[in-house]
Amino acid sequence: MTISEQTLTGPRGGLPHGGQLVDRRLDADEASALASSPLPSLPLTAAEAADLRALATGAYSPLTGFMGAKEHESVTESMRLPDGTLWSIPVCLGIPDAVRVDAGRLALRGERGELLGVLEVAEVFERDRQAEAELVYGTADPEHPGVARVLGSPARAVAGPVQAVVEPLEGPVGARALTPAETRAAFAERGWGTVVGFQTRNPVHRAHEYLMKCALEMVDGLLLHPLVGPTKEGDVPAEVRMRAYEAVLGYFPPERVLLAALVAPMRYAGPREAVLHALVRKNYGCTHFIVGRDHAGVGSYYGTFEAQELIASLPAEDLGITPLRFDNAFYCRRCLAMATGKTCPHPDSEHVALSGTQVRTMLAAGQLPPPEFSRAEVAELLIDAYRS
Ligand code: ADX
Repeated sequence: MTISEQTLTGPRGGLPHGGQLVDRRLDADEASALASSPLPSLPLTAAEAADLRALATGAYSPLTGFMGAKEHESVTESMRLPDGTLWSIPVCLGIPDAVRVDAGRLALRGERGELLGVLEVAEVFERDRQAEAELVYGTADPEHPGVARVLGSPARAVAGPVQAVVEPLEGPVGARALTPAETRAAFAERGWGTVVGFQTRNPVHRAHEYLMKCALEMVDGLLLHPLVGPTKEGDVPAEVRMRAYEAVLGYFPPERVLLAALVAPMRYAGPREAVLHALVRKNYGCTHFIVGRDHAGVGSYYGTFEAQELIASLPAEDLGITPLRFDNAFYCRRCLAMATGKTCPHPDSEHVALSGTQVRTMLAAGQLPPPEFSRAEVAELLIDAYRS
């Protein structure tokens, strides 16, 4: 097999990261016994609850729980778990000083006091949040939404394996929240040997669609996998985005695409998060993963292609999923087509490019962005959402 053939076919079989899909789900009987037990309780934030679900479903395989001091330090400093497995972002659980923990178990509860899961306390430690911000996010600026979450979390963290209730979630977004075992089964049923995963936290515009379609020319299927956990203020809510994704499905052959939702918090950690996003999609059964410009970036904290550079620098066997890297995509009025700098010779003045702020201003004023930028079906849904 030549190198280019390998790039196109990728690692067949799609083993989960670390070799085995983690399953830490509580069954209904265990959950109801725990719900009424007198265990000490810790209320989780929405982001922590999303991490808990991702741990329990195996989306974060090989992690089986929230990280301890050794894992936190090793992941922060060297992007590796203590056993050498690649892992790019700490997954920790802050615990306020007021919550007493002894050895034993801790009930993890949601905002309404409902039982979400249980943690077997292995360790309570002081988390170096400053080092985490600087090394993982590349900045300790509290204006950065991911850094703000890290610095706003208690310094004291509780670690240990978890088990959690993984029930189907409510509403049209919840109905799409498949587990890694479910997407893997869906891929097998469709006979897809190679599957490209697409991460997004935004409505799908023409540039996103172009990347997905280019990738689909090379692989059997596409997992359109929007992240629907907590995002920052100003991002379009998941319920609105989900309607927009469904509208975009009309432009793909149905037998070649699966739309599912990833319940995980957005961290805006740019390069480090691109690696996490790839590993998570590997766990969902993808063999390929799209990384475009400023993946998981926010503001101007990261260079346009820094995420691609980091992911390309990692040994392929450690990553275990093939990154498909894309240059900045746009519509070119001279080419009369979507293109990138790799395929279009025309100057920027011929390219339809709008900034996020320009698009938001147009939508808020009830104006449709040009169809070369966004499909009318998507833009109309967004305009309605802005109105209401
Ligand atoms: S992200 O935070 O989830 O990365 P977004 O939903 O905007 O943000 O991007 C989804 C994916 O599409 C990312 O891989 C991103 O790099 C890529 N992307 C977005 N817009 C473009 C574009 N115009 N050209 C190339 N890649 C893009």
